[in-house]
Amino acid sequence: MLEKQLVGQKAVEYIEEGMIVGLGTGSTVNIVLRELGNKVKQGLKIHGVATSKFTEERALELHIPLIDVADIDHIDIMIDGADEANDQFNLIKGAKGALLREKMIATSSTHFVVVIGEQKYVHKLGAFPLPVEIVPYAWKVTIRQVERLGCRVTLRMSESDIPFITDNGNYIIDCHFNHIEEPSVLSTQINAIPGVVDNGLFVDMADTMIIGKADGKIEIKEK
Ligand code: 5RP
Repeated sequence: MLEKQLVGQKAVEYIEEGMIVGLGTGSTVNIVLRELGNKVKQGLKIHGVATSKFTEERALELHIPLIDVADIDHIDIMIDGADEANDQFNLIKGAKGALLREKMIATSSTHFVVVIGEQKYVHKLGAFPLPVEIVPYAWKVTIRQVERLGCRVTLRMSESDIPFITDNGNYIIDCHFNHIEEPSVLSTQINAIPGVVDNGLFVDMADTMIIGKADGKIEIKEK
């Protein structure tokens, strides 16, 4: 929790007056939202773009002004968490199922800032199961094709024991690779399968990684 607090506070320092700010999804982003809400209360003028219904609700509660993504053609900065990150600035994302919108906003942003705890900073990606968003139609066929890439696949379920549905009306499958040797190659292979919407590999997208440590320090890596 301390790590999340530290990285959340640091991340909002990158947000400047007048910026359009992409708001990721997750518990670390919740801390960012709280800090940003305080700054807005103190007079900072920004507009946020939410990457999930969850973040949208949280931002509105904190009185962070939001702008409809359909009304803008650029985003100045995106702040988001990750499930794994490595020294090539590659990420695995999607534990909360928001990977598609997060990737769309991250790739449209001038500056993509990632906030993580040190346990998520790994040498090789893949211990965390890779989330992949797929259309519900013929989902078993899609899973079989993804499995041919060398992983075990599980369909993500919700608490009520029905498939988890993303904000885009799709399913999420979690792909257990254990080690991902070439994230860029794998990402291309997965996205080439019909039925796949997108996968949680964010290859070479992050510009800044703010890493929180258990000893209360933070490390910042700039590309
Ligand atoms: C959501 C994500 C999150 O950024 C990722 O799961 C990290 O979440 P948290 O900050 O709660 O650990 O990719 O789709």
